Amino acid sequence: MDGSAPRPRELLKIAVDVARDAAATAHRMRAEGVSVAATKSTVTDVVTAADRAVERQVVDALRRVRPHDAVFGEEYGAGGPEAGAARVRWIVDPIDGTVNYLYGLPYCAVSLAAEVDGEVVAGVVRNVATGEEWTATAGGGAYRGGERLRCSGETDLSQALVGTGFGYDPGRRAHQARVLAELIPHVRDIRRQGAAALDLCLAAEGRLDAYYEKGLAAWDHAAGALVAAEAGLRVAGLGGLPPGPDLLIAAPPALFQPLHDRLAALDASGGP
Ligand code: IPD
Ligand code: CA
Ligand code: CA
Repeated sequence: MDGSAPRPRELLKIAVDVARDAAATAHRMRAEGVSVAATKSTVTDVVTAADRAVERQVVDALRRVRPHDAVFGEEYGAGGPEAGAARVRWIVDPIDGTVNYLYGLPYCAVSLAAEVDGEVVAGVVRNVATGEEWTATAGGGAYRGGERLRCSGETDLSQALVGTGFGYDPGRRAHQARVLAELIPHVRDIRRQGAAALDLCLAAEGRLDAYYEKGLAAWDHAAGALVAAEAGLRVAGLGGLPPGPDLLIAAPPALFQPLHDRLAALDASGGP
């Protein structure tokens, strides 16, 4: 590979092609019937044959068009050149919202992002059930179906519809539920829809005002957080930290600080 970095738009085009084929596979496998293939961190953290097949398909497709890039996925971990040897790294969640997928709920997605030199520069999230597709490039805006996205203009936290999610570990969930119980009197309402990547995309178009969650992995948020940020949301962790496993908050500029301060006071990044 030469030293020049590919343009975000080139990477996005590849990501969209690969994600569309991947979503088609997930859709077809769902129609053929789905069952739990294994469990991971806990008994409720399930993996289906489709999670694995879709990730394999994504990795194989990326290898064909960009053989020198690194790939990092939820089911098979890191692949490709040694860490740091590739400027481009792809991050894939083959099915975000696996529990919804298992139950036939139309809220699950393929999430694929491309990093250059450690920065996410392109991302696509495609709903497996509905075909809705969100894309973004760094500095190039966020889109759904050709329409540029802009986040909610809400300025009052008490009027905000806030999305969140829970991890799979019972102890973590108990802590997250306590935080939620203290937060809900201070917001319009809460949504727990079951796919972090889609939650971030909904926030990008104002179908949620804001979103937060503890415990996300890079594959959960890499593409969706770029979509959200490019739609005007501030995406960060607590106390100026970047978003990460401790906490990710995505909120329009006027809502960010009040939501951040509430979550900090409730120790939202604490617990197991
Ligand atoms: C999960 C979903 C869920 C979120 C969890 C994630 P998975 O991803 O995004 O909404 O609350 O934290 O682990 O397991 O369905 O890919
Ligand atoms: Ca996920
Ligand atoms: Ca997943």
